[in-house]
Amino acid sequence: MPSFKLDDREIPFEKGDTIIKAAWRLGIEIPHYCWHPGLSVAANCRMCLVEIEPPPGGRAMMLDILKWDPAKNDYVPDRKPKLQPSCQVQATDGMVVRSDTSAPAKEARAHVQEFLLVNHPVDCPICDQAGECKLQDYWMSEQRTFKRMRDEPVHKPKAVPFGDTIVYDAERCIACTRCIRVCDEVVGDHMLDLRERGNKNEVVLAQGRKLEGDYTLMTEHVCPVGALTSSHFRFKARVWTLAENPSVCPGCATGCTMWLDVDPREARAYRNRPRDNPAVNGFWMCDDGMMTYLRAHEARVQRARVGRDTREEVAVTVAVERAAEQLKKAPKGKVAVLLGAQFSTEDNLVMAELAKALDAPLYLTAKAPWRDDKILRHADQNPNRAGARSVAGIAKVGSVQDLLQAVSAGQVQALVGLGADADVEGAALSPLSRVGDVVLLLSHDGPLARFATVTLPAAAWAEAPGSFVNAKGVVQGFLRALPPKGEARPAWELAAMLGRALGQELAYRKFKDVRAALLARAPAAHPDHKPEAPAAAAGEAKAPAGA
Ligand code: SF4
Ligand code: SF4
Ligand code: FES
Repeated sequence: MPSFKLDDREIPFEKGDTIIKAAWRLGIEIPHYCWHPGLSVAANCRMCLVEIEPPPGGRAMMLDILKWDPAKNDYVPDRKPKLQPSCQVQATDGMVVRSDTSAPAKEARAHVQEFLLVNHPVDCPICDQAGECKLQDYWMSEQRTFKRMRDEPVHKPKAVPFGDTIVYDAERCIACTRCIRVCDEVVGDHMLDLRERGNKNEVVLAQGRKLEGDYTLMTEHVCPVGALTSSHFRFKARVWTLAENPSVCPGCATGCTMWLDVDPREARAYRNRPRDNPAVNGFWMCDDGMMTYLRAHEARVQRARVGRDTREEVAVTVAVERAAEQLKKAPKGKVAVLLGAQFSTEDNLVMAELAKALDAPLYLTAKAPWRDDKILRHADQNPNRAGARSVAGIAKVGSVQDLLQAVSAGQVQALVGLGADADVEGAALSPLSRVGDVVLLLSHDGPLARFATVTLPAAAWAEAPGSFVNAKGVVQGFLRALPPKGEARPAWELAAMLGRALGQELAYRKFKDVRAALLARAPAAHPDHKPEAPAAAAGEAKAPAGA
């Protein structure tokens, strides 16, 4: 593999890599604003300037300059190497590049930094980006000098709505054009533009447009400063109080890899952010997926209840006993089990084992299809249909519609189900009212919930470790980010409790027991399962997140 030297460190690179990209693959950051690994090169901020040594026998490119001489109190002629933007210059074999070890490069960055801050309001105390702002980071690492300009800074529009989801502050904008390129290159819709020059530069809506569609929040995500803020996160939290948790979007069968940011002090989720994964979502997420953090709190089932009409609140153990009593009374061969496409593979595994022990046919609760696109959104709104099916082995897994037919035909008289989702609603579900015993393990409310004779509160995906298998068969594990709400417990635990109350051998006491069983029964659905990764993707996966 060809390589070059960056600050005396050997950097291997792939054909076509720029200097900054090859360094980024190894987790080395060359300061930058406008460059983003998922976007085209704009090379407009000049923050990534580096010194490139001439090849052996070559001549260094030098510039004649005037340099301030404090002793003479005047400018004096001098020379300096011509610095080059590392985001634009392609790496070549044997090249010698100096970044942090080049005094001219360090000096240039300090000047770029000072220049960017000349008219900046520096309103960090009220800025949502504070704590993860590149201007703050690079002031610390590259500048560390106070503002010299004493004039009134140029004022520009503030708090400009760019649509329903994004608010723009032109005074904080450094005109890097990342947001414009996200619209142009990721979405393919030119919704944003840049107008004017110099200190009048600002981002505006393209004529007759507003920022709309399914990927508006990616403009805020790529903004390296606090110029674009999302209306749902604006002024809600300080980022240094948030803990990031590796998670997976539960919004659709693409299963975008993401961070779920929560405030542990109030056990509250505040936002999702894409986590770079070339095998799944690259650097991006859709707007609906970005809002799924709300599902950790909204429409949650938090307590055990018994009685279809009375819905009496009881302890979980009491509800499990009541459920077992009901199911024991059900006619033999007339119990069905519903797996859940919204639940982890681990939850489904224990449900599938319960079904096996009860010799019950399998069906699947799942949300109805939604609007897909050619970018990320999958028509299947369920993150784990493939995982749920994988634990069923060779058993047939019917849909809720199949279940309704079986109920109408008198084949099902009792149900144990994971989730309340269905792709039919209202009167179409009425045959279920004929099923006398319906035990549902629910994290959220849904169309099936009203038929439950016993409701067991299950942890949401954010509240328990687990894994999903996406539509392409990629398995991704996620961690617990929040404590379970109310009396909720992981669904696999509830299923095992129910199995034991029914006299079955479901000996799962710890999550690791379920994971071990998953490895034994459906190894391809286990998070440690590694499909052959393409070479390029494997290289990119090492790169740091959030350029
Ligand atoms: S709004 Fe942000 S992303 Fe867009 S040009 Fe300004 S600084 Fe760059
Ligand atoms: S495409 Fe699907 S998985 Fe990805 S962010 Fe959107 S809803 Fe979530
Ligand atoms: S990162 Fe902006 S010029 Fe290279």
